[in-house]
Parts: sequence; structure tokens; C-alpha cells
Amino acid sequence: VVILITGGASGLGESITRKLAADPANTVHFTYHRSAEAAEEITSAFPNTKAWQVDFGDAAGIAQFISSIPGMDPDVLVNNALTGYVQNHFHKLEPAVFVSSFATNVMPAVQITQAVIRLFRKKKSGRIITILTSYLVNTPPIGLSEYVANKAYLLSLSKSWAVENAAFKITSNCVSPSIMLTGLTGDMDDRLKELAVQSHPLRQLLPTEEVAGSVHFLVHASSHINGINLIINAAENVI
Ligand SMILES: NC(=O)c1ccc[n+]([C@@H]2O[C@H](COP(=O)([O-])OP(=O)(O)OC[C@H]3O[C@@H](n4cnc5c(N)ncnc54)[C@H](OP(=O)(O)O)[C@@H]3O)[C@@H](O)[C@H]2O)c1
Repeated sequence: VVILITGGASGLGESITRKLAADPANTVHFTYHRSAEAAEEITSAFPNTKAWQVDFGDAAGIAQFISSIPGMDPDVLVNNALTGYVQNHFHKLEPAVFVSSFATNVMPAVQITQAVIRLFRKKKSGRIITILTSYLVNTPPIGLSEYVANKAYLLSLSKSWAVENAAFKITSNCVSPSIMLTGLTGDMDDRLKELAVQSHPLRQLLPTEEVAGSVHFLVHASSHINGINLIINAAENVI
């Protein structure tokens, strides 16, 4: 199986890359932005991986990367990369923040998924897996409105991808994890981390490896599992 994962050298993406690359029958292409060193460690540990440097803030770089996708001929796409978020109350966010976040977090996933679906339809097979957030179903945290809204947009797209391409044996599913310790949450202060652990039903935050296991499941799942959003939140705050 040939897999393409965005943001696959660090954070959750690194766990997914390593999990999928552990199977020598797979070839894993992954993008990275700043984590050049980590990308090199992965490619030397796993000869069945290839790293591509892409900045989702650079339109020309994205276009160039997309032109390489037919050569990779992927069977699976994992939309994982996130360029970050500005944490603030909705009413305090500059309108430009919404536009730039949409441009760097949603549009690259749109463009890469379009390129991949065109290939998948020719092959009459394919798997699209998009990483969202459990905040979509739980009470959204204060200060993350644009982040959660962009994830809701991707959830909606993922369902359309599923419906439009089911007859081509292409599936599109999402994985929505609760908080994990990665670069994204690294600068959270220790008090907030401790609060997150205490309010977690298992008194332990979700390890990235667990989420990688779910992605692995969806890579190999049948075409009957399509259009779902797998929420991994240990029943925290179920509504
Ligand atoms: N951490 C959590 O609590 C949590 C919870 C729910 C969902 N998620 C989701 O999980 C996914 C992975 O996030 P994470 O927690 O692993 O965060 P992270 O450690 O910040 O990783 C983000 C990934 O995106 C890549 N990236 C950042 N800026 C980029 C740019 N300008 N162009 C291209 N790629 C860029 C990074 O690559 P480099 O390192 O190479 O720069 C990195 O691999 C995201 O979709 C996030 O929304 C995270």
C-alpha cells in the first residue's frame, strides 16, 4: 500500500508515519515543514519512506508538490498537517486570521485531496483519512473557534468525498482525537495540562500511538466503512 501523509515527521503525524512504515509492504510518503531532522531520522530508520518538504503557506510550493503526486501513485491519503491556530475569543480575532487559517489549513487539504481523488477514481480504489478533533462533538474550548470551525468544514467535505466516490470503492473517513501532547499543545502551561489529565475519564491523556492505530485500522478497513468520524475521547463529555 502506498500512503501519503501530510505533516508526517512530527507530532501525531510522526506516530502515524512510523506505525504505517513498520509494515515493509507499505511505502509511506510524508510531508514536513520545519522538522527536517526528524524527517531524516524517519527516512533512515525506514527505507520504505520518502520525505517531501512542503510549506502550506506557500502556494507555489503546494502546486509543485501536487504535481509530484501522480508519480507517487498513492492508495491512501492522510490529511493531518496543521499550521497552527491563534487562540483568542472569537470577538477579538482579526478577520484576517480566519482568512489566513482557512488558506493554510483547509485549502491545502482541498487541493491535495482533489489531486488524489482524480487518481483514485482511475484506479477504482482509495482511502482518505482526515484528522479532525473531538472538540467537534464536545463543548468547544474557549478561544479555539476558528480552529474548530475549520475542522467542521473538513468534516463536511469528508462526507461529500465519501458520497461522491463510494461507487469507485473510495472511502473517506475522519479520526477525531481528544487532546494529545504534541508540538501543538507543548506550550500549554503545566496547570492546564494537569487539569486536562484530571478531567480525563482515564486520568491519562490520549497517546498519539493510539490514534495511529485507528488510522491503521481505517487504511485496511472495508469499503463499507465510509463517511464515518471516529471519535477518540474515552467518552469524555459525551453529548
Ligand atoms: N494535539 C492535540 O491535542 C490534537 C487534538 C486533536 C486533533 N489534533 C490534530 O492532529 C493533527 C496533528 O497535530 P499535532 O497535534 O501533531 O500538532 P503538531 O505537533 O503541531 O503537528 C503539526 C504538523 O503539521 C505540520 N505543519 C505545520 N506547519 C506547516 C506548514 N506551514 N506547512 C506544512 N505543514 C505544516 C508540522 O510539520 P513540521 O513539524 O515539519 O513543521 C507537523 O507535522 C492536526 O490535524 C490537529 O488538528 C491534535
